[in-house]
Amino acid sequence: MARGIAAAWAGGHIRRIGRTDPPDRPARPPRPVLRPPREMPKRRPTAAGRAALLHAVAHIELNAIDLAADIIARFSDPDRAGVDLPAAFFADWLQVADDEARHFEMVSARLKDYGCAYGDLPAHDGLWQAATDTRGDLVARLAIVPMVFEARGLDVTPPMIAALRRAGDDASADVLQTILDDEIGHVAAGHRWFLYACDRRGLPPVDTWQALARRHAPGAVKPPFNADARAAAGMGPELYLPLADRTPPG
Ligand SMILES: [Fe+2]
Ligand SMILES: [Fe+2]
Repeated sequence: MARGIAAAWAGGHIRRIGRTDPPDRPARPPRPVLRPPREMPKRRPTAAGRAALLHAVAHIELNAIDLAADIIARFSDPDRAGVDLPAAFFADWLQVADDEARHFEMVSARLKDYGCAYGDLPAHDGLWQAATDTRGDLVARLAIVPMVFEARGLDVTPPMIAALRRAGDDASADVLQTILDDEIGHVAAGHRWFLYACDRRGLPPVDTWQALARRHAPGAVKPPFNADARAAAGMGPELYLPLADRTPPG
């Protein structure tokens, strides 16, 4: 559906952005069973461990489709958004939704090679919390979802790619490399619209982002950072390094 809507937009078949009030939680398939993050099985360097890794990535991609759809639907209401959003805003997040759906498809294809499908393993239920916490505030949503969590994906994906290559699964490593390259664009879009919204509201971007990240995602901004990928997305170290410095003052 995400890919179909993105294609309809690209083909000029959607001409108007309406207003809607999306549900607080998206619909979910009956499986996977959702569990608290601490109850997730440990991933080991075996074929079963790699299948579990790919399953976890598929779950993240499914949530990412919903997060892109949610930012479009939720902030289609200018009163809720608090700023006038041009069509380019909605076009960017439709592109993200399309990418996330493509990622889900690519990872699902790799899972199939392991004799596994999305839903076969449990998945963790922490991913929607950030959306719930920021549902009333566009600036906070942009600060947390793309600029904390998708940026964290840039940091953690290269070691996963390396582990897959060491295990000889180049096909999965290539899929994660494509995802990593695309995710730079998602962080960049988040950063760009965050700056736009801050500018319209007269907020200082660096202080605002740091305060929102501390409040909604404590501990989620931590090294090691993929400084090159973050820089390619427009996020310089002056933005995130102060949050990673755990040295007590004085
Ligand atoms: Fe993705
Ligand atoms: Fe993404």
